[in-house]
Amino acid sequence: RRILLINGPNLNLLGKREPHIYGSTKLADVETQARSQASSLGAELETFQSNHEGAIVDRIQEAAGWGPNAPADDDGTAAPGKKASAIIINPGALTHTSVAVRDALLGVAIPFVEVHVSNVHAREPFRKHSYLSDKAVAVICGMGVYGYTAAIEFAARHLKVEEE
Ligand code: DQA
Repeated sequence: RRILLINGPNLNLLGKREPHIYGSTKLADVETQARSQASSLGAELETFQSNHEGAIVDRIQEAAGWGPNAPADDDGTAAPGKKASAIIINPGALTHTSVAVRDALLGVAIPFVEVHVSNVHAREPFRKHSYLSDKAVAVICGMGVYGYTAAIEFAARHLKVEEE
């Protein structure tokens, strides 16, 4: 079983950026720990970070085996190595702006967990709205980087889909 962990804009700066809000753990350390946690739960975890909305849309499509620019009659074998049966996504600011990321997740119909390091509800009002939350299986926020650990535990144990 494969889990895809996606981090959006500015999360490459995790650990450096506003540490009073996001803590001091680097994204590379989150990703390393995430891979070993997943493997101890019998799952494989792939990581992807981008500051670009379109690149995130492309990667979500690839999780269904549809490469970017896949023809409409593609049967889902375009990018077989990049498929995932569950997605964990911290979309960063795209949470609050991106219909495209929402549509990509709905298009591939892969169950996903939305993660935010900070408690978005305790911050600026514009962070309260998410384009993803009503379609997510679960939403985690305010746990710091432990939110990723919780999401992986949940995804590996409870988002059981047919083995490929
Ligand atoms: C974030 C919260 C977002 O509002 C913000 O734009 C981020 C990070 C979080 O992890 O707390 O970039 O998703």
